[in-house]
Amino acid sequence: MTRTLTPSPSRRGLRAISLATLTAVVLAGGVAATTAQAAGSTLQAAAAESGRYFGTAIAAGRLNDSVYTTIANREFNMITAENEMKIDATEPNQNQFNYTNGDRIVSWARSNGKQVRGHTLAWHSQQPGWMQNMSGSALRNAMLNHVTQVATHYRGQIHSWDVVNEAFQDGSSGARRDSNLQRTGNDWIEAAFRAARAADPNAKLCYNDYNTDDWSHAKTQAVYNLVRDFKARGVPIDCVGLQSHFNAQSPVPSNYQTTISSFAALGVDVQITELDIEGSGTAQADNYRRVVQACLAVSRCTGISVWGVRDTDSWRASGTPLLFDGSGNKKAAYTSTLNALNGGGTGNPDPGTGCTVTVSRANEWSDRFNVSLAVSGSSTWRVSIQTQGGQTLQNSWNATVSGTSGTLTATPNGSGNNFGITLYKNGNNNNPTATCTVP
Ligand code: XIL
Repeated sequence: MTRTLTPSPSRRGLRAISLATLTAVVLAGGVAATTAQAAGSTLQAAAAESGRYFGTAIAAGRLNDSVYTTIANREFNMITAENEMKIDATEPNQNQFNYTNGDRIVSWARSNGKQVRGHTLAWHSQQPGWMQNMSGSALRNAMLNHVTQVATHYRGQIHSWDVVNEAFQDGSSGARRDSNLQRTGNDWIEAAFRAARAADPNAKLCYNDYNTDDWSHAKTQAVYNLVRDFKARGVPIDCVGLQSHFNAQSPVPSNYQTTISSFAALGVDVQITELDIEGSGTAQADNYRRVVQACLAVSRCTGISVWGVRDTDSWRASGTPLLFDGSGNKKAAYTSTLNALNGGGTGNPDPGTGCTVTVSRANEWSDRFNVSLAVSGSSTWRVSIQTQGGQTLQNSWNATVSGTSGTLTATPNGSGNNFGITLYKNGNNNNPTATCTVP
């Protein structure tokens, strides 16, 4: 491997120290050897080389298992409470707050120099009984009070909050998920974000969901439209969490990087928040590598968290979806993850395609809208654009675009890698999807 990383001076200094410690090679004058080599020997160190974090979910009930805490302390620098900050845990009876287990996790994390993701303030699931039985303005007020109280309790200690979790339906509707919270009015999400910002102004505020990894899914587009709308109207939002629970039914999509870069282009950070990938051996290792490379290729993809330490700690233990086996041994997936993190944020294209395209929504009129497309990874490319039902091409610039509806094909026209199209909505306001190949 011949990769040369050029860390910032402070990181170079840190690495020089650890190299000197590891190899006991100290040159005259006190300058340590700085031969180029793979930088990080743990997940957190490797991720830090590109300014990212690498985290895990932690269960309070396992904090006295020393195999578990040894791995967690060595490998991870961002901690999410797997269940202990959820609504049923923190407000078991209305207006009686219980932070015992959440605080145990926060204090373990902070005493070991780690940051904390807060999960989660408003969600249809894992609600205490009293909340499940509420509706209307009483529920809205109880939800806002919960957000305010919990975010205030942890103020200043949370890197990012999953303010709202899983508010959209699966499938092709792109609609909000029906829930008692949704029935309090469509603005419940923005109300929760505003309350969270007021309570903890320095925490990043995320919208978090699953099945939002594939750019062509209606649910992904629905979340994208929510974030775009929040940014346009000044509703406080700083990040999007892609849970990224993958298995045979829900594999790592080929357009995962497009999803990440398209959210990032809205001006929010993207965090991979609950990564687990069912499988084993090289297939699983390869999928972990793809996820890491997709994140590293997007500068605003700022960190990755896996949803547990060992396979036996997982909520999907039978799928062996994590990086350590039940005995705490590193799996092939661990090695591929570490190697990919050490590859740096080089903007690697999706393996197998040779290029990546980012889709972002631009100007909009009542009857049509502009879409900006940015290709990376190659100067020769063919972008296949799938318009949504009814939409037709009105105009294009900086590329040769053929077709008028359905699938459009774009190739370079000498203007570089950024191009655009105007689509007539014809009643359909959804974004097109796009994939890139090197011909
Ligand atoms: C899961 C936990 O891992 C389980 O222990 C619990 O029984 C159910 O919730 N999406 C989320 C997480 O946002 O909070 C869920 O965690 C997994 C799916």
